[in-house]
Amino acid sequence: MVAATMAGGGPPKTVLITGVSRGLGRALTLELARRGHTIIGCSRSEDKIQALQDELQLPSDAPPVASSSSSSSSSSSKHLLSAIDVRSDESVKEFAKLVAQAKRVPDIIVNNAGTINKNNKIWEVPGEEFDMVIDTNLKGVANILRHFLPLMIERKKGIIVNMSSGWGRSPAAEVAPYCASKWAIEGLSRSVAKELPPGLAIVALSPGVVNTEMLASCFGSSAALYQSPEAWAPKAATMILNLTEDDNGASLTV
Ligand SMILES: NC(=O)c1ccc[n+]([C@@H]2O[C@H](COP(=O)([O-])OP(=O)(O)OC[C@H]3O[C@@H](n4cnc5c(N)ncnc54)[C@H](OP(=O)(O)O)[C@@H]3O)[C@@H](O)[C@H]2O)c1
Repeated sequence: MVAATMAGGGPPKTVLITGVSRGLGRALTLELARRGHTIIGCSRSEDKIQALQDELQLPSDAPPVASSSSSSSSSSSKHLLSAIDVRSDESVKEFAKLVAQAKRVPDIIVNNAGTINKNNKIWEVPGEEFDMVIDTNLKGVANILRHFLPLMIERKKGIIVNMSSGWGRSPAAEVAPYCASKWAIEGLSRSVAKELPPGLAIVALSPGVVNTEMLASCFGSSAALYQSPEAWAPKAATMILNLTEDDNGASLTV
């Protein structure tokens, strides 16, 4: 299993993280970049993607990446951030093509982008809101796997981390759509684990409880009692960097 106490050393890695504009994804991006790793990131907000690219401000020895209207990768940065909606299979497909052309096939993928329904009993959750949760949390992950796994399989290596939740392992009232999506992520991860060739691994990772916009949505003001994303990120980064193919199929917790 994972040696979560190591600092996560080793050679620099390329890490694809979805949902980098705020919360856990943003904090993890900054932490991994600070440790010298290259980030391929996405989320929907173009403004926040540009602001994060500016904040990364790390010099690079990598060649500049061809930009598209929705991509952000200045010639002084080795990182590649793009305004992508993971619900769009076509956008994810284009994103994977861009990443492959830039020779930045990820060593690690963190499927982090997610959303939660407003607290409500299932019969009060509008159909569109239920769809939004499933389309983002489950089908968004499937879109990333569909277009990025072949690139990893070709290289015969790669680690995939699917962000789960305590609510992917236990039930809770008023967040049934979210729970359903995260229980599905646990099942998806364990099933895909049986399909992967040697050298690759996929895990479901519960991040614990962290004070983000998502937590405030379901916990209200008591979200502020929990750890910040910045306190969480070093622990998560070390754990993720130390995952190996022996972890394939595991359900882990930061
Ligand atoms: N915080 C916790 O305590 C906690 C606990 C258990 C599990 N988790 C899981 O951890 C992950 C991160 O949660 P968080 O608390 O950091 O949430 P958050 O603060 O709401 O951030 C969610 C991120 O996902 C992005 N995103 C949402 N929909 C997207 C889409 N369709 N395409 C691309 N990006 C999208 C958002 O950016 P845009 O809006 O710009 O697209 C944002 O960057 C989620 O999977 C969540 O379920 C969190």
